[in-house]
Amino acid sequence: MKILVTGGAGFIGSHTIVELYHAGHDVVVVDNLCNSSRESLKRVAELVGVAEIPFFEADIRDRSALDHVLTEHPCEACIHFAGLKAVGESVTKPWEYYENNVSGTLVLLDVLRQHHCCNLIFSSSATVYGDPAEVPITEACPKGRCASPYGQTKSMVEEILMDMQKADPLWNIVLLRYFNPVGAHPSGQIGENPNGIPNNLMPYITQVAIGKRPQLGIFGNDYDTPDGTGVRDYIHVVDLARGHVAALTAIERKCGLAIYNLGTGQGYSVLDVVKAFEKSTGIPIPYHFEPRRPGDIDSYFSNPAKAARELHWTAQYGLEDMCRDSWNWQKQNPEGF
Ligand code: NAD
Ligand code: UD1
Repeated sequence: MKILVTGGAGFIGSHTIVELYHAGHDVVVVDNLCNSSRESLKRVAELVGVAEIPFFEADIRDRSALDHVLTEHPCEACIHFAGLKAVGESVTKPWEYYENNVSGTLVLLDVLRQHHCCNLIFSSSATVYGDPAEVPITEACPKGRCASPYGQTKSMVEEILMDMQKADPLWNIVLLRYFNPVGAHPSGQIGENPNGIPNNLMPYITQVAIGKRPQLGIFGNDYDTPDGTGVRDYIHVVDLARGHVAALTAIERKCGLAIYNLGTGQGYSVLDVVKAFEKSTGIPIPYHFEPRRPGDIDSYFSNPAKAARELHWTAQYGLEDMCRDSWNWQKQNPEGF
């Protein structure tokens, strides 16, 4: 299949393109590079053994640019990663998040339907469950109140997509709710490249390991969890990428609307992650406890049975693999791309 990949130069997009090529698909990438660089796509091209990945530096809010891309490269499906994703920033810049993530998606959908490309996979997030009514979380769990404007944009786009699919059954739409993506390609050639001080746990740990930060601050040790630190469902980005390839099979069998959790089903605490990192790399991670981070919850992890049953997809990598590959990427690219 030929696939339009929006946001394909980013962390999850770049890993997904590698897996799409391995599965025999073709891609064309649109990215405005607001949180990524051309270098990631150069490295993807090397990894998959092609001269270059077809790429347009363009914004998904730019209707004529998208029209031009789809006229030159007719596509059967779109995997839509493009979006702003910094939770804290979304609290201080809500307009920018709604405009980019929600308005941008509306423009994209309009251009896609004009080009009769009515197959879409959307990068959603477990954040749409809010403080979940049940753990492990199944797709039947009701959505909750999102703690941030970022989360709200994911939830709103999901609603828009559900309504569009209901109104026009020609659309096949897969909503993928990611749990906590970490890790990097095992080659160490592509990985996560956060700007400034990392907000998320794994990039913070790798920056401590490489000596950029003195120690990890653990946000809270009085949660209702076995060791008092927050529990999450970390998933290796290569497994996540393969989840998108698997989701294309749902599109191929004309799924209408389908929703899948992408997680491992296994919850690990912050201290579990620190210990696994130390074990897999041999590098000690000094830490201290800090107060809870506003908006954090005790524990959430997925029930990934639906994706296993319907997409024949399950995560293959474990926590130590995630730590090893995150470190391998950081060590080979101390300054990122
Ligand atoms: P990323 O920032 O690395 O990738 C997003 C890409 O989209 C970047 O390359 C950026 O330049 C591009 N982009 C942003 N706005 C754009 C626009 N208006 N037009 C064109 N390109 C634009 O982030 P990621 O971690 O790869 O996340 C990909 C998607 O998955 C995002 O939608 C994100 O919200 C979602 N998601 C990520 C996580 C996570 O933990 N990384 C978790 C759940 C959901
Ligand atoms: C966060 C976002 C979520 C987003 C996800 C993307 C919040 C409240 N949630 O999830 O919306 O989809 O990132 O991956 O921001 N921790 C520390 N010290 C640190 C960093 C994190 O102790 O320096 C802890 C956190 O308190 C949490 C765990 O590590 O218990 C994981 O945190 P993080 O990687 O930021 O992910 P989430 O908060 O689960």
